[in-house]
Amino acid sequence: MAKILTGIQSTGTPHLGNILGAIEPAVEMANSSKEESYLFIANMHSLTQIKDKKVLHENTLSTAATWLAFGLDPIKSCFFRQSDIPEVTELAWYLSCFFPYQRLKLAHSFKDKVNNLKDVNSGLFSYPMLMSADILIYDANLVPVGKDQLQHLEITRDVASRFNNLMGDTFIIPEAKIQNDTKYIIGTDGEKMSKSKGNTIDIFAEDKKLKKQIMRIKTQSLSLDEPKNPKLCNVFKLYNVIASKKNVEILNDRYQKGDVGYGEAKELLYNEILNRFSLNREKFFELMDNKEKVELLLEEGAEKARIKAKNVLKRVRSRVGY
Ligand code: ADP
Ligand code: TRP
Repeated sequence: MAKILTGIQSTGTPHLGNILGAIEPAVEMANSSKEESYLFIANMHSLTQIKDKKVLHENTLSTAATWLAFGLDPIKSCFFRQSDIPEVTELAWYLSCFFPYQRLKLAHSFKDKVNNLKDVNSGLFSYPMLMSADILIYDANLVPVGKDQLQHLEITRDVASRFNNLMGDTFIIPEAKIQNDTKYIIGTDGEKMSKSKGNTIDIFAEDKKLKKQIMRIKTQSLSLDEPKNPKLCNVFKLYNVIASKKNVEILNDRYQKGDVGYGEAKELLYNEILNRFSLNREKFFELMDNKEKVELLLEEGAEKARIKAKNVLKRVRSRVGY
């Protein structure tokens, strides 16, 4: 049976791409799994990038509120903050001692970051060891992640096998479950939506800011009555993933007939977003007004997670002779 685990970094309030590409599918998997799942906020990974205590704290809560607003059931799943489980950093150390430096040097996410970030700290370099510990410390066997995380999963499998081979069977070898295999959600510039590109649609932003982001979506400059190819239009591409099949067909026809301008199409997209996410938005704002409630849920989740983490760590400690 599948024991699902996944984490999401708290580098900001999740955007539309994170939600459709990672959060919604993971919540669906966890809620329908027969086994207990582990879903956590990877706020120690975020420390590699964020050095502001207030921002880190606030991002952790807004990321947690997003999971909850999208239906995560904290009774069925173990839902917690990575920083509440210090055992995970101890395991990360043991794993580091079993993984060759020369292999860690090949991690492409680190190579990308070296080229793009100012703060290239050694936490960024050893990031895959902490991520491996995140997974192995709960005996998880199925890890839903985006394609970009596949190499981290390979590293996890590799380090677990190396440890098992040298010290005796200790870890379950986990499998990746790739989400959004081919498609990703585009941002306002038509490229992959990403925090680092400043092209996000933030569905939890207040109405005015959300509308502004949507009005910023790049389009061609055809006049209202010119026929338009919907497949080439960024507004339509987003509308296609948000609106109902029927509404998509209607807008598709209007594009081809030259019966809609970009301003109106954006307005339609805005309304569909408000419509589709109105309950999630309501829940999110309610939780952000009740942060103590979120804190409490995370603390309860951490208590459950720590029991499991302590058990697995005990196994590892005895294997290495401590
Ligand atoms: P960002 O690129 O904004 O920094 P992350 O790299 O932190 O986002 O991604 C967190 C999760 O959300 C990952 O599982 C990733 O695959 C998913 N994700 C991020 N952006 C998109 C997108 N545009 N479309 C689909 N999924 C996405
Ligand atoms: N590295 C992942 C990301 O950036 C987040 C993460 C940390 C994670 N630990 C994990 C995902 C363990 C899955 C399992 O998206």
